Amino acid sequence: MTGGTGTTGEADATSEAAATAAGANGGPVGVALVGAGAISDAYLRNLTAFPDIRVLGVADLDVARAAAKAQEHGVPMSGDVGTVLAIPEVEIVVNLTIPAAHAAVATAALRAGKHVYGEKPLTLDPEEGEKLLAEAAERGLRVGNAPDTFLGAGLQSAKRALAAGLIGTPVAATAVMQSPGPESWHPNPEFLYQRGAGPLFDIGPYYLTALVAMLGPLCQVAATARQARPHRVIGSGPKGGTRFAVEVPTHVMALLDFTGGASASSTFSFDSPAHITMIEIIGTEGMLSLPDPNTFAGPLRVRGAGDKEWRELPVEGTSAGRGLGVLDMARALRGNVPHRASGALALHVLEAMNAIALSAEHGEFRRLSTTAREPDPLPAAWDPREATLT
Ligand SMILES: NC(=O)c1ccc[n+]([C@@H]2O[C@H](COP(=O)([O-])OP(=O)(O)OC[C@H]3O[C@@H](n4cnc5c(N)ncnc54)[C@H](O)[C@@H]3O)[C@@H](O)[C@H]2O)c1
Repeated sequence: MTGGTGTTGEADATSEAAATAAGANGGPVGVALVGAGAISDAYLRNLTAFPDIRVLGVADLDVARAAAKAQEHGVPMSGDVGTVLAIPEVEIVVNLTIPAAHAAVATAALRAGKHVYGEKPLTLDPEEGEKLLAEAAERGLRVGNAPDTFLGAGLQSAKRALAAGLIGTPVAATAVMQSPGPESWHPNPEFLYQRGAGPLFDIGPYYLTALVAMLGPLCQVAATARQARPHRVIGSGPKGGTRFAVEVPTHVMALLDFTGGASASSTFSFDSPAHITMIEIIGTEGMLSLPDPNTFAGPLRVRGAGDKEWRELPVEGTSAGRGLGVLDMARALRGNVPHRASGALALHVLEAMNAIALSAEHGEFRRLSTTAREPDPLPAAWDPREATLT
């Protein structure tokens, strides 16, 4: 299993099939990006700075946009999706398209013999996600998926603190993400208010993945949801001032039960004038306050039973940012070991989000059928800027 035990039987990284898949040769791993939009700069900046990765192509439906990004970041090729899938040295396709295109682009990459790492959510719904993982397994190829923020110094240090028993046995958690929504800064925010997004599917993956990474898989959820306004207005870019329809709930509150016995309450909202983010875990011996799981660094704080104040804990590890999951997958490919930001983990989180949406609609607890194992911790000295593949 590549980092999980999902029901779909994702490609076994140790299998002979995986070993003979694209990428069994040595040296840095060839990567192409599909989707040259708002988030592509963060990936291109980082991936082009990691010596174990070679970014060989950028593709987009808008080939001029792909060409501009390629030029800006010194990437040798650009064009439509077919152009970058045809580059023989590309082993991993990084899928940065909008959620509605995730499944089709990922499937095309698999059919071209490439491993695929995608932005969140994995696909629009769990059925699409299961099909994708099943096809990858059949072809002996890997699926990886964002978020990879749980590989950052902040959340990895939290994981180490929990494993060391700093707060005893985890009992309950609170997760809150409230904001006014992304339409003030994102020049094309319509997709963020359509199926596959909204605060639950757009921001929920960071919180739910962090919680699963800390507390293990979920077994059931219950939720309620609201929508403050049926329209929003684009706040920046050439379409600034344009009104568009909101197609999903924008304030979602969910109760989460974990297989291991802990539980959590969570809020995901684009209806709040203030930005509020928190994840806190209560244990039998204390309480841990985690960093914003949409970031890679600290702060990480602890409070013991008798403490009147929080105490800051040192964080150790990398804060290099988006693309760590791609790099971990590239190194795991060469080392023939499971990667951490796995398709199975993303499918479990997607099933949880889908179950939350269905619970809010039907007013009942929903049990989950998938599971995922907690990703292995990353060694504190893991350095993305080290050349390990020669
Ligand atoms: N913007 C952010 O801050 C941010 C942060 C984290 C994750 N993400 C995720 O990254 C993904 C992309 O978000 P974005 O904000 O960059 O979106 P965007 O709309 O700015 O860019 C998406 C790009 O994908 C291209 N595209 C769409 N369908 C395609 C297809 N079938 N083939 C090729 N190209 C296609 C579009 O032309 C566009 O250039 C989403 O899954 C989102 O959830 C975004």
